[in-house]
Parts: sequence; structure tokens; C-alpha cells
Amino acid sequence: MSATGKTLIFSLNPAVDVEWIVPKVLWEEKNNILSERRWAGGKGVNVARWFRLLSGDTGEESQLVIPLGGLTGREMEEYLAQDGIAFRAFPLKDSTRANIIVTTDDKRQLRFNPLGPELTSEEWDSLFRFARETQDVKLAIFSGALPRKAPKDTYRKLLEIFSSRSIKTILDCDGEAFAQGVDGHPFLVKPNEFELAQWAGHELPDMASVRSAAKDLSSATQGNVLVSLGADGALMVGNQGEYRVYSPQVKVLNKIGAGDSLLAGISYAVTRQMPPVEALQLAIATSTSAVACAAGLLPSREDIFRLKESVRVERLN
Ligand SMILES: Nc1ncnc2c1ncn2[C@@H]1O[C@H](COP(=O)(O)OP(=O)(O)OP(=O)(O)O)[C@@H](O)[C@H]1O
Ligand SMILES: [Mg+2]
Repeated sequence: MSATGKTLIFSLNPAVDVEWIVPKVLWEEKNNILSERRWAGGKGVNVARWFRLLSGDTGEESQLVIPLGGLTGREMEEYLAQDGIAFRAFPLKDSTRANIIVTTDDKRQLRFNPLGPELTSEEWDSLFRFARETQDVKLAIFSGALPRKAPKDTYRKLLEIFSSRSIKTILDCDGEAFAQGVDGHPFLVKPNEFELAQWAGHELPDMASVRSAAKDLSSATQGNVLVSLGADGALMVGNQGEYRVYSPQVKVLNKIGAGDSLLAGISYAVTRQMPPVEALQLAIATSTSAVACAAGLLPSREDIFRLKESVRVERLN
């Protein structure tokens, strides 16, 4: 593994996001769409977008690994190219999905998400072959849901391929794919409180129970656990100690994709081998900048690094 290796960001179930603006939703009537916006969506794609912003990457440093099919797949490629996101597409027989968001004048939303493509065994084979054979990788990130009908141990198997080559891995997903992914010993996982409780199998009513579950999870992965706590910041438990990190006060304009920006922030810090306090400051500065921006806008890299200096981190042990 070279010191300058790439960061791979796997986005296995991406979507073109489509937003329709309507005055209001009329049942049994024709609904006129006032405007439509379309863009590349999906958690992995968001992580790639934020990682690129932080690294100033022009295409050499990170690569989105993304199965794409049909006309929506081609459309997705266009958006990724426009956004300057370097990607490696894996062609699918089925079409990439388009998620529909209907936004009304009073800012209420309806969301419709198709199930998305089912990968054939040949399509899975070529993805796994790539994972085994790709060279010069520093970090592999797995973010978001698995494609329809994918085996629940898919992330575990992919994680094992990279960890067996001493490549660091990061996992952010939920449910059974997460539970099984834990056995792939990811270097870092980023559950929110709900996902951590889901993994633990019981409610986490206070910070002491969150901390205790995070420690159990860290024992299970033998790695780092970054629990995101929404407006309350985050908690990190791992082999370099336990830390509580607090979000600076900002006016929140948009919470969609907050977790993805946090994940990109910590991933970038991992690639730069930042010490824990600095890594957490950068991660929270990224997600705080994200929620302080209107949907669809990105802050500047300078703003994020300026905010980083005001992020408070407390060492717990
Ligand atoms: N209401 C908020 N106020 C301030 N910061 C917030 C707020 N919500 C989220 N954040 C920031 O974003 C980070 C990630 O948020 P959160 O814990 O909600 O992740 P998540 O549940 O994984 O999100 P996602 O829905 O994007 O997957 C937090 O650690 C925090 O820095
Ligand atoms: Mg999340």
C-alpha cells in the first residue's frame, strides 16, 4: 500500500433525486409541477461530494464506486461529471432508480423511493473482483443501504477483502447489513443514536447508556465508533480513547445529509492521519457547516477549517 493511495467510496444503491415543486397536493386531480430539479443522490454520492470539497480533489484522490444502469444511470454519470466527482461505474442491466420528492408551498414533502435495481450474480462478481484487484487504496468507505435483495453479509465480505489487505475501512449503514458488517471489523463505524440502539437491541435513554453501547460496539469491531448525536455533536470510542465533541451553535437550515458530511469529515481526517481531537474537530466542523447551509449548497473549505478551530472536544478517559 502506498502512502498516497486512493479513497474508494462505495455507493451501491444510488439514485437520481428528483424534486417537484407543487403549490399543494391535490388528490384525484391533475397536479401541476411548477418546477423540477434533478441531481445525483444517495449517501455514498454525498460522502464523495463532501470528501472532494475537503480534499480539494481533482480526481486523483478519491473514487466513487457505483453500479449504474439504464437512462437514469447515464443521467447520473452526467451529474457526477458536472460535480467533478471521479467515479468508476459498474454497468447494470436494470435501471438506476429515481427518487421523487414532492415539495409543496407550505414546505411539506412527500417522498417516493423505488426499490432500485437488483444486481445479477455476474454484476456482483465484477464488483467483488474490482474490490479484490484494485491497487493503491488507502481507505474504503461503505455508506448507505445495500441494493434490493443483496445478501445481508455483502458489506462484511467487502470489508474483509480490504482489511485482509491492511486497508482501512469505514462503514455507515443500518439494520442487518450493519449487524453483519461489524464482523468485517471496520476501522470506523458511524451509527446515530437510533442505529446504535438497534445494534445493541435495547433503548439508550441517557449518555451513559450510549457510551456503554458504543464501547460494546468498539469491542465487537475492534475499531473506532463515532456516534453522531444530532444537535448534541458526537461521541467517539476507540483504541485512542473516549471523546465527547460538541457542535458549535449555528442556525440550522437543512438537516438532510448531515450524517454524510460528518462521515466525509472523519474520513478525510483518517486519510490525513490527524490525531483524534483534530479529527473530531474537523468532522463536526464539516457537519455543522452542512446543516448551516441551505439544501443543495456547499460551504467553502476555508469556512469549514475556520469553524474547526472553535469545535470543543473533551477527553473522557
Ligand atoms: N439540529 C442540528 N443542529 C446542529 N448540528 C446538527 C443538527 N443535526 C445534525 N447536526 C450535525 O450533523 C451531525 C450528524 O447528524 P446526525 O446525528 O443527525 O446524523 P445521521 O442521523 O446519521 O444523519 P443522516 O440522516 O444524514 O444519516 C451531528 O453530529 C451534528 O454535527
Ligand atoms: Mg446516518
